[in-house]
Amino acid sequence: MQISIIYDSGYGHTAKQAQSVAEGVRRVEGTEVRLIPVSEGHIPWEVLEASDAIVFGSPTYSGSPSARFKQFCEDSTKAAWNQMKWRNKVAAGFTNSGAQNGDKLNSLISMALFAAQHGMLWVGLDLKPGNDTSRGSVHDLNRLGSWLGAMAQSNGDQGPDDTPIKSDLETAAYLGQRVAETVRRLQPT
Ligand SMILES: Cc1cc2nc3c(=O)[nH]c(=O)nc-3n(C[C@H](O)[C@H](O)[C@H](O)COP(=O)(O)O)c2cc1C
Repeated sequence: MQISIIYDSGYGHTAKQAQSVAEGVRRVEGTEVRLIPVSEGHIPWEVLEASDAIVFGSPTYSGSPSARFKQFCEDSTKAAWNQMKWRNKVAAGFTNSGAQNGDKLNSLISMALFAAQHGMLWVGLDLKPGNDTSRGSVHDLNRLGSWLGAMAQSNGDQGPDDTPIKSDLETAAYLGQRVAETVRRLQPT
């Protein structure tokens, strides 16, 4: 199973989240994971084409995925969409932002729409929301209560070594594992 994670990160926080998604993928035996930052400029389109699943990640900037991530989306039109090269691949998404809410949902919706336009099969989170009762805490899995994809929040005055917090990174890892398990389930026996 080849799973690619293509993501943007201006200051390293979303990169940390991407690494956790990769960690989750590796929890499933027989997976090979490739982390691809869009900032490197050269997108290895052949790697994406050879992948069973592609996970999309971006910080939420101005209420949507970053401009660099959007550039990747637009470039994929010629590289993949024209010939529907990603049809029936598994897809999922994650985003990170400074505010607790920060309009992150809009970024995930953009990614899910993008995946749908490519004919991909979107996988969300099957987690109950965390931190939603009097006994809950920020240390709960899915503490930001998202279903469409994994969300993380990074304090604006802390670097990627300190934020996002462990529960957000664990939520990202959970998504990675779920993507890998879904690919496995879809493979012919
Ligand atoms: C141009 C810009 C726009 C931003 N817009 C938002 C936003 O809409 N909502 C939010 O909560 N945080 C916003 N932020 C904060 C970032 O999402 C936050 O700093 C995040 O951790 C950055 O991730 P990165 O280190 O991977 O780039 C913005 C930051 C920048 C630089």
